[in-house]
Amino acid sequence: MTIHYRSSAAGPLRGELRVPGDKSISHRALMLGAISEGRTEIEGFLDGLDCLATRDALRAMGVRIEGPQAGRVAIDGVGLDGLQAAEQALDLGNSGTSMRLLAGLLAGMPFTSVLTGDNSLSRRPMHRVIAPLTQMGAHIEATADGTAPLQVHGRRPLAGLRYTLPVASAQVKSALLLAGLGAAGETLLVEPRPSRDHTERMLRARGADLRRLDAQRLVLRPGRALTAAPVGVPGDISSAAFFIVAATLVPGSELLLREVGVNPTRTGLLEILKLMGADIELLDPREVAGEPVADLRVRHAPLHGIEIPPTLVPLAIDEFPILFLAAACAKGTTRLREAAELRVKESDRIEVMAQGLAALGIAVAPMPDGIIIEGGPLEGGQVDSHGDHRVAMTFSVAGALAHEPVTITDCGPIETSFPGFADCAGAVGLELALLPAAALS
Ligand code: S3P
Repeated sequence: MTIHYRSSAAGPLRGELRVPGDKSISHRALMLGAISEGRTEIEGFLDGLDCLATRDALRAMGVRIEGPQAGRVAIDGVGLDGLQAAEQALDLGNSGTSMRLLAGLLAGMPFTSVLTGDNSLSRRPMHRVIAPLTQMGAHIEATADGTAPLQVHGRRPLAGLRYTLPVASAQVKSALLLAGLGAAGETLLVEPRPSRDHTERMLRARGADLRRLDAQRLVLRPGRALTAAPVGVPGDISSAAFFIVAATLVPGSELLLREVGVNPTRTGLLEILKLMGADIELLDPREVAGEPVADLRVRHAPLHGIEIPPTLVPLAIDEFPILFLAAACAKGTTRLREAAELRVKESDRIEVMAQGLAALGIAVAPMPDGIIIEGGPLEGGQVDSHGDHRVAMTFSVAGALAHEPVTITDCGPIETSFPGFADCAGAVGLELALLPAAALS
């Protein structure tokens, strides 16, 4: 069923919320659990379609995985040599993380795997993993455009690798680390800018010989078996982002977001919002299973436009749709550059957000690697999510701030990352209604 929402002006956001588990950590907990020795128990797992695609792919390769049930998952690890060739293609739906990380893992297996995805995933660039994995000795077939379906003809052992990533990408870095685990030599990666480091934290906690040489260089020495370790998945800051921005923008709001992951490689959103004038406090900072966690208290504050520092771009890469809404409601101009990566996410987020904001009366100037947004009054209207979960959630928040309701079409993909989004939104005071298709203009 195609789902459309109508979002209307809301009073202040109040109360407490625990958003669902972190998507990046949930994927990695499954993959590393599968190739560890012993049983991995996960709590707080994200029961979204993307992570279920990873679970199903691992099951198809012979790994016993129970759950999720109330966020609990148990995996009987098969070790680095225990995965079996799947009988059919592995369908990874909308999930770029599943496809790129599994391509890396499967490149080092002595069998062939076929990886497929939905229309959006089949348009996303895979050359970025194919090129370095080919250098390691795998043979990967893709379309002429370098997109899925991928046929990964693995090789065991792969050769080690020295590689400078052309773009800051945690998916590419993680794919190469997974490939490097069973390689014959060491894998040395140079990152242009830091990106999320969940894979490194989890690999080290399981006994991998992985060291950071300096801010840019990372080296993995193969040969050590991984030992299972429990995972407590924190709330996903990328999901909390919608409520952080909503509470900041709606006058009179005060919201407490509990147990949010605040790994410093993920908190670019908080840094950028603070530069714009937001009032966000981190309460009770603590560590859970090797990941920093805190409760976030967010109070309404007027925002002003800024030049977004390029160093923060990879640290907020998934939060730009909602940050663009924050910029649209801020006083003055916000400029973003060095963010061309946004054009190859679940949708072209520069183009799709520019269209959506323009439809609501905001002056925007998209550029090849960024955007200029002029803050101003938000009008009502109809916006297409282009099947992008984060665009759909962003415009669901926009209706709370606009003079007239905002209709958002094609909201089904919200299930990929944030099951229960509409209930969470309702619980803190946002006015979000399911709209019958017949009601669309
Ligand atoms: C992710 C990394 C980021 C991010 C994606 C999840 C991950 O992608 O956009 O949603 O879990 O490693 P890139 O590595 O392409 O920047």
